[in-house]
Amino acid sequence: MHLITLILGTVLLHQAYSLECHCTQGSGCKNSKIECPSGQSCSSERHVSYSNDSKINDVNFKGCALPERCVNRSLNFGLVQTLISSSCCTTKLCNSANDPEPVQSQPNGKSCFSCIGQSCTSSLACTGNQEFCYSASVTVDGQHISVRGCVSKEMCQGQSSCCEGDLCNSASSTSAGLLLIMAPLLSLGLLS
Ligand SMILES: *[C@@H]1O[C@H](CO)[C@@H](O)[C@H](O)[C@H]1NC(C)=O
Ligand SMILES: *[C@@H]1O[C@H](CO)[C@@H](O)[C@H](O)[C@H]1NC(C)=O
Repeated sequence: MHLITLILGTVLLHQAYSLECHCTQGSGCKNSKIECPSGQSCSSERHVSYSNDSKINDVNFKGCALPERCVNRSLNFGLVQTLISSSCCTTKLCNSANDPEPVQSQPNGKSCFSCIGQSCTSSLACTGNQEFCYSASVTVDGQHISVRGCVSKEMCQGQSSCCEGDLCNSASSTSAGLLLIMAPLLSLGLLS
């Protein structure tokens, strides 16, 4: 019995950690390689941020991802917009190429509130796949920052701070959630 359990366990373990991928950071990333847990693919993401149409940040991330993460997505906070292109693959070390640069899309007819300083009453035209509005407030270095804008549906999974419908994001939520992606920009003082 114990032997069977042991063999079964070894087989399961082997299957559970069998896909090797390139990685750029995170736990389990050693010498730029990582063994992905079962159900995850190798992923390559490119996060490009724009402020007033100038590119201010362009970073590549590689590692493991669940299938639902393998989609292009974006956040638009008015002053700053971050576009994420994402692709996944399922063979050993298949994610060596950087993802193509995501392209800025045309307005899609939807609109959400965005903040300029402490005032969050300006209407922002959403673009591309940004079909939801977002609202959050965070405290960075003792400073209270409100962030509102348009986001794509994929950014809203498990987020209470998203809503659907024009200008639906007038209420403030205190969940940090998506702001993790914006962290490098917060530290640049771009959203304050
Ligand atoms: C944004 O760019 C436009 C056109 O280049 C310029 O006229 C405007 O002053 C810029 N706004 C800011 C806040 O930099
Ligand atoms: C994701 O974005 C990249 C870069 O713009 C593009 O080449 C790719 O076709 C997009 N993928 C999907 C599924 O839309």
